[in-house]
Amino acid sequence: MATESTTELARADKERPEAGVAKGKDTLSITDNRTGRTYEVPVTDDTIRATDLRQIKVADDDFGMMTYDPAFMNTAACRSAITFIDGDRGILRYRGYPIEQLAERASFLEVAYLLGEGELPDGQQLTTWEETIKYHTYVHTNITRFLEGFRYNAHPMGMLLGVVGALSTFYPDAKNILDPASRYLQRVRLLAKTPTIAAFAFRHSRGLPFVFPDNDLDYIGNFVNMTFSIGGRHKPNKVLQRALEILLILHADHEQNCSTSAVRAVGSSQVDPFSAVSAGIAALYGPLHGGANEAVLQMLDEIGSKEDVPKFIADVKAGHGRLMGFGHRVYKSYDPRAKLIKKVADDVFEQTGLNPKLEIALELERIALEDEYFIKRKLYPNVDFYSGLIYQAMGYPTEYFTVLFALGRMPGWLAQWEEMLLDKDQKIARPRQIYSGAGKRDFVPIEQR
Ligand code: CMC
Repeated sequence: MATESTTELARADKERPEAGVAKGKDTLSITDNRTGRTYEVPVTDDTIRATDLRQIKVADDDFGMMTYDPAFMNTAACRSAITFIDGDRGILRYRGYPIEQLAERASFLEVAYLLGEGELPDGQQLTTWEETIKYHTYVHTNITRFLEGFRYNAHPMGMLLGVVGALSTFYPDAKNILDPASRYLQRVRLLAKTPTIAAFAFRHSRGLPFVFPDNDLDYIGNFVNMTFSIGGRHKPNKVLQRALEILLILHADHEQNCSTSAVRAVGSSQVDPFSAVSAGIAALYGPLHGGANEAVLQMLDEIGSKEDVPKFIADVKAGHGRLMGFGHRVYKSYDPRAKLIKKVADDVFEQTGLNPKLEIALELERIALEDEYFIKRKLYPNVDFYSGLIYQAMGYPTEYFTVLFALGRMPGWLAQWEEMLLDKDQKIARPRQIYSGAGKRDFVPIEQR
C-alpha cells in the first residue's frame, strides 16, 4: 500500500483515496525467463531497490541483474523530505507548503530557513537568522583581486562558479563536513556571500568598482544596491525588489534536478560544500537547465517579431532547435512557477513599461499551446520562459539571468546537501555501466599501427 512517501506517485495516490489500495503483499514477483526462476522483492513506496535485482543470475559467478537508466528517467536516487512535485497536476511544495502561499507571503530568507531547517522560523528565529546572514555578507578582499583576474567579457556564471569554488581555500574548516556546527556555518556563509560575489561579477563585467555590503539593508535590498548603486546612489524600488524576491523564492528548490543531483553527487565524496555547490553552479549554467532563461531571450531576439513566430514554430517542429523555456522532465502540465511568474511580470512591467519582447513570447505560447506537436508531448512553458523578460526589464543583462537563478537555488542546494550527508542510505555516488567497448587486446607498437 502507498504509505507516507517520498515518491511522486505514492504521494499522489495518498491524495486520491480510491487509488493505491493494497490488493495483496507489498512485494514484486519477477520471473527470469532465461532460467525459469522466480524471485520476490520487497516494494516500498511503489519502488523496488535496484540492488535486490542483483540476486537474479543465470550462472553463480554472474554479476547479477542491473537496471539501465540513462539520465535517471525512472530512478529515485534518494529519499527527500524537502520538496514535493506532482508534475501531472502542476503542484510544487517546499516542506509541505504550497509554492503559491510562500511566493505571496514569505521572504526569501524565511524560505531559505524553511528549506534548511524543515520548519518556518518563529519571529525570534527569523530575526536571529537574518542577523546571522548579515554578519557573513563580506568576502575576503583577496576575492576582489581574484575577480579582477577575469577578462572583461567573462561570463558571470563562469565567474560565479570559479569564485564559489575558490571560497573553499578561504575556509579550510569547511572540510569538517561531519561536524554539524561547521556545516551550519558554511551554509550561512554560502547564503550570505553569494549575493556579494554575484554583484561583484556584475560590476566586473561593467568595469564598475565593487560596492560592499550595506548591512542596514535587507537581503534583497543589499544585493540590488551592490549591483546597481553608482556613486553611492541607488533609489530602491520596493515593487521590483519584491518581484525579484518572489522569483528567487520560486527558484529556491526543485528536488532532484540536474544541478541538485550534481551537488549531491559531488558532495557524496565528502568534499567541502563550496566545491560541491560550485559543481551545482556548473550544472545550472547549461542551456537545458538554468541557462535556458538566457537562451529564451536569445531566441526571442532571433525571432525578431510577432509575425515571424509561426515560421519559428515550424522550424522547431521540423527538428531545427527547441522552443527554449518550454518542456520539463517532471512537469507534464503548466509549470506552477511559470503561472506565478506571469503575475510578477504584470507588476514589474507596470513599473518599467512593457518589455517589447513580451509580445513575441505571448504569441509563442499561444501558438505552441494550440499546436498538436506541443500538446502531444505535453510541452508547456516552464519557469524560464518569462523570468528572463522580467530580469531584462529590471536592468540585468541576458548573460546574468542564470546567476540570479543560482542565487535563488542556493538554499535548495544547501538543504539537499545537508540531507544527503545525514541520510544513512547514502554512500559515495557511483553509477554502474554496461561496458560496450573492445574485448581484451594486446598493445600494438606505434610502427605497426
Ligand atoms: N521544444 C521542442 N521540442 C521539445 C522541447 C522543446 N523545448 N522539449 C522537449 N521536446 C520534445 C523532444 O524533441 C522530444 O520529442 P520526440 O519524442 O519527438 O523526440 C520530446 O519533446 C521529449 O523531450 P525530451 O528531450 O526527451 O524530454 P526531457 O525530459 O529529456 O527534457 C527538457 C526536458 C527541459 C531538457 C526539454 O524539454 C528542453 O530541452 N526544454 C528546453 C530547455 C529549457 O527550457 N530548459 C529549462 C527547464 S526548466 C528550468 C530548469 O530545470 O532549469
